[in-house]
Amino acid sequence: MSRTRASQVALPDLRGRTALVTGASDGVGVEIARGLASAGADLVLPVRNREKGARVIDMIRTDSPDAAVGLRDLDLSRLASVDALAAAIRAERAPLDIVVLNAGIVLLGDPERHVSADGFELHFQTNFLGHFALTTSLLPLLQERGARIVVQLSLAAAIARPDWNDLQSERRYSPLRAYGASKAALGLFAHELARRSAAEGWGITVQLSHPGVVPDTGIAPALRARQRSGAARGLAQRLGNTPAQAAQPALRAAVADAAPVAAADAGTLAAGGSSGRSGRRGPAAAPGFFGPSGLMHFGGPADAVRPYRRLADPAAGARMWAIAEKLLRDRADAVRA
Ligand SMILES: NC(=O)c1ccc[n+]([C@@H]2O[C@H](COP(=O)([O-])OP(=O)(O)OC[C@H]3O[C@@H](n4cnc5c(N)ncnc54)[C@H](OP(=O)(O)O)[C@@H]3O)[C@@H](O)[C@H]2O)c1
Repeated sequence: MSRTRASQVALPDLRGRTALVTGASDGVGVEIARGLASAGADLVLPVRNREKGARVIDMIRTDSPDAAVGLRDLDLSRLASVDALAAAIRAERAPLDIVVLNAGIVLLGDPERHVSADGFELHFQTNFLGHFALTTSLLPLLQERGARIVVQLSLAAAIARPDWNDLQSERRYSPLRAYGASKAALGLFAHELARRSAAEGWGITVQLSHPGVVPDTGIAPALRARQRSGAARGLAQRLGNTPAQAAQPALRAAVADAAPVAAADAGTLAAGGSSGRSGRRGPAAAPGFFGPSGLMHFGGPADAVRPYRRLADPAAGARMWAIAEKLLRDRADAVRA
C-alpha cells in the first residue's frame, strides 16, 4: 500500500480543554481522540461498546500517559440512550469545549432498509438525528464555554440532496442513498447551528470536515465488497487515507479560527491555530470545511476545501432543523403516551 504519510496538524496546547468525540471506539474517531489527547485535551468518549472503548483508552495512554479520558455510554440509534447521556452531562455540568460528531454507519452491501427501535431509518438516526438530539440537548452547556462543534461529513454529501418527500428513503432505498441523505441532513444542521449561534450570540462555532476515503476502518469491508473491480479497490487503496491521516481534517476543524458569516459561501476558508474557545461571543462564524487535499479529495494532507454550497442554504437548513425538532417531539410524545 503506498499512501502518503500522515502530515500531522500542529495543534495548539489544549490542556484545560475538554473534548467529546463520538465514534471514538473505532476507525477515524480513535485517531481524532488520540490527536486531541496528545495536545493535552481531556476526553469524554461516548461509546456503545465499552470493551472497545477501554482498548482505545489503552492506545491513547501509550502516547499520552497522563491523558484524562472518560468513557460514557451512547447508542445514537436509541434516543433514550442519547437523552441519558445528555442528561448526565447536564447534571454534572461537565465542561465541553470541543464536540466532534464523528460516529457514523454506512450499511453498504445490505440492500434491506433498516429502522431503529425509535422508528427512524438507521442511517438517518445514527448519523444525523441522534447527533442533532445530543447537540441540541446540550446547547446551554455548549454556550457556556463557547464550544467548537466539528461535524464529520463525507464525500457522499457532495452529491446528496435531501428528498423532502422521502427524507428517510421509505419510497426508494439504497444504502448509499440513505447514507448520503443522512450526511446531507447533518451538513444542513451544522450550517443552521452556526447561523443560529451567530444570530443569538451563543458563541458556539461550527466547522465541517470529511476524512476522504479510508479503506482501513470498520466500514471498509462493506466498501470492499461493493468494489467488485480490482481497479476501484486499488484506487481507494492508492489514493485513500490511513485512519491517522483521515483524522487530520477533523483535528484541523477542531482548532481552526472561525470565519465571518459573510464569507460562508466564499469558497476556501483559512485555517488558523487558535482553540475552539476563541470564537466565544466573537464575530458571527460560518463553518469552514476541511478535507484531504489530494487527488479527488480521497487522501493527502488536510486542508481547507470548498464547502458544499447546497448544505449552506439557509432555507433548507432551517427546514431540516424544524423537521428534526418535530420528529423528536413526536417520538417523545409517543413514548409518553
Ligand atoms: N471510512 C471512510 O471511507 C469514510 C469516508 C467518508 C466519511 N466517513 C465518516 O467518518 C466517520 C468515521 O467513520 P470510520 O471510517 O472511522 O468508521 P468506523 O471505523 O466504522 O467507525 C465508526 C464509529 O462510529 C461508531 N458508531 C456506529 N454506530 C453507532 C451508534 N449507533 N452509536 C454510537 N456510535 C456508533 C462506531 O462504534 P462501534 O465501535 O461500536 O462500531 C465507531 O466508533 C463516519 O461519520 C463516517 O461516515 C468515513
